[in-house]
Amino acid sequence: MRVAIIGQGYVGLTIAVGAASAGHSVVGFDVNPVLVDQLNAGRSHIEGIPDLDLAGFIATGSYAASSDTSVLDGCDVIVIAVPTPLDEARNPDLSFVHAATELIATQAKSPALVINESTSYPGTLRNEIAARISGVDHLYASSPERVDPGNTDWGTKNTPRLIGGLTPAAVAKAREFYGSFCDSIIEVSSPEVAEAAKIFENTFRQVNIALVNEFAQIADALGISGREVLDAAATKPYGFMPFNPGPGVGGHCIPVDPSYLAHVANQVGVPATFIKRANEVNLAMPAYVVKRVVGGSGGSIKGKKVVVVGVSYKSNVADTREAPAAAVIDLLREQGATVTWHDDLVGIWRGESSSTIAGADVAVIVTKHDGVDLTAIKACGYVFDCTGTVAGVDGI
Ligand SMILES: NC(=O)c1ccc[n+]([C@@H]2O[C@H](COP(=O)([O-])OP(=O)(O)OC[C@H]3O[C@@H](n4cnc5c(N)ncnc54)[C@H](O)[C@@H]3O)[C@@H](O)[C@H]2O)c1
Repeated sequence: MRVAIIGQGYVGLTIAVGAASAGHSVVGFDVNPVLVDQLNAGRSHIEGIPDLDLAGFIATGSYAASSDTSVLDGCDVIVIAVPTPLDEARNPDLSFVHAATELIATQAKSPALVINESTSYPGTLRNEIAARISGVDHLYASSPERVDPGNTDWGTKNTPRLIGGLTPAAVAKAREFYGSFCDSIIEVSSPEVAEAAKIFENTFRQVNIALVNEFAQIADALGISGREVLDAAATKPYGFMPFNPGPGVGGHCIPVDPSYLAHVANQVGVPATFIKRANEVNLAMPAYVVKRVVGGSGGSIKGKKVVVVGVSYKSNVADTREAPAAAVIDLLREQGATVTWHDDLVGIWRGESSSTIAGADVAVIVTKHDGVDLTAIKACGYVFDCTGTVAGVDGI
């Protein structure tokens, strides 16, 4: 199949490589010309997609990146994989989806299967994509992406793929496409079910993470180890699923997607109370971390040198979107500390460069990448660990 993928970020490039590996002819379309040049030079920006693989697909002609909109015409399949962030008021921002839809409406003159993989609320494929395109008999399907960047156990091939189509023909074509590079395809009765399943999965995580974050605070106030309690509870062989407390939630999914569900819930008059409360708890975690750091440092960190270790939102990835480290750093600075941060994967962030760990009075481990220098961290006067993975130090 000739496949165009709109958006070559975490999701789009991952799918592009999956489709290219199945022998499809893939063009990765992106509005960012610098990224397009980088990809065409065989340089991947995604953990889990080695440069060598990308270069191999380019060499055999099964993958090319482009910012030329004419590549969208004459395709069998067009996949939308663009950002779906929140606006300033934390409401869904579908402007990228609308822009991608507009491109299909104006450029794709022959019928194609149009798939949306971007995460959004139920009704997006039908009302925000298909309803905005006329004049060409495209097929439409929703297949929300479940990729977990950096996860080496679960990838595009072995993660079951949900598909819901506007018509049986769309479902059949989507099955043929995904069946060529995914092991397990699960058809659901409508695109709305597929869309809702994806945001419910992430809401499930958001709410459970908030629950353990709140519990960690209760346990600490009670003078018991929250982590030990969670480990103990996890020995129950049924009816319990462990989640870890931390400094808050980050990335493009967990802090964002539940608000898409809350948005449509409010529209139909059902308040999404769990999502609201989970957001409050998770967004307050950086302040809790700073309170504990101040307490553990003798009641004040004014004038102290603090290094925040790991600023991306999870270990072994460089993604800093919505990362709670930003709020931790800002709040530490408000307390009068001199704050630097260390993250070899991130390098440069918010106009600042990664610093060394050595010489700090206080180290706050927000995210722990493999290979971080624990000896240097432990040499700091006081260490607070948000990851629960460093023995013998204070933390949550
Ligand atoms: N990152 C994840 O782990 C993950 C996992 C599952 C689902 N998702 C969802 O997938 C979608 C994409 O997320 P992502 O992480 O890949 O985003 P990303 O920011 O990594 O990549 C998006 C890309 O789309 C490009 N783009 C924006 N507007 C465009 C347009 N009109 N035409 C062409 N390209 C355009 C951007 O330049 C960027 O390269 C979102 O809805 C997200 O919620 C993300």
